[in-house]
Amino acid sequence: MHKIIEQYVDTHTDGLSPVLQKLVEETEKKTGRSRWSIGKVEGRLMQFLVKVSGTRNAVEIGTFTGFSALMIAEALPADGLLVTCESNQTYAEIALRYFAKSPHGRKIRLELKPAIETLKGISDNSIDFVFIDADKPSYGSYLDEALRVLYPGGMIFVDNVFWRNKIFKHPITNENAKAIAAFNKKVKDADGVEKVMLSVRDGIYLIRKK
Ligand SMILES: C[S@@+](CC[C@H](N)C(=O)[O-])C[C@H]1O[C@@H](n2cnc3c(N)ncnc32)[C@H](O)[C@@H]1O
Repeated sequence: MHKIIEQYVDTHTDGLSPVLQKLVEETEKKTGRSRWSIGKVEGRLMQFLVKVSGTRNAVEIGTFTGFSALMIAEALPADGLLVTCESNQTYAEIALRYFAKSPHGRKIRLELKPAIETLKGISDNSIDFVFIDADKPSYGSYLDEALRVLYPGGMIFVDNVFWRNKIFKHPITNENAKAIAAFNKKVKDADGVEKVMLSVRDGIYLIRKK
């Protein structure tokens, strides 16, 4: 997005809670990868969707240091639950520390193992909202599992569907971009779903199970 539009959008969007602000700073200091997090605008969009959909049970695939997990938890009702999947212990430890600092952290259960193992343990038709934001080659498998665990009417929020604009190159040479392009085609051709792609940040796919 053009820098001037990005700044305007940022200025006209609600800010972050103090805990999330601190988390962004520590994430940058400790990992140098705060750009991996969805950021304020995409996070605020996600909070809107979680709230208007009346989501009570959510699943996140890819916790990193916990930014999007805390965003989701802030938007859940007091009895809501987010199961978040992370395979890296260093990132998970930062996330858990920040969950403990927030009054919304008690709504989060972090599963430290490959996401697919956690997903396989979740019952059919039991989840309202799934956020996919981990290893790109597994997006297709995560979609299959998400559609299984969602209630009819439930929503999937998928991040990075432009993969740093590398999916627009012909031919696509980057391995993650190839995986994302295949995933986008899979969604486009899928039966039993409604979908809309948004050119927000690195591309978002919103998918609703009919
Ligand atoms: C882009 S980051 C997630 C960012 C996070 N959603 C946010 O907005 O703050 C992707 C994360 O997925 C994790 N990851 C990658 N492969 C995974 C797997 N197979 N199972 C669980 N987590 C995985 C990585 O360790 C990384 O922390």
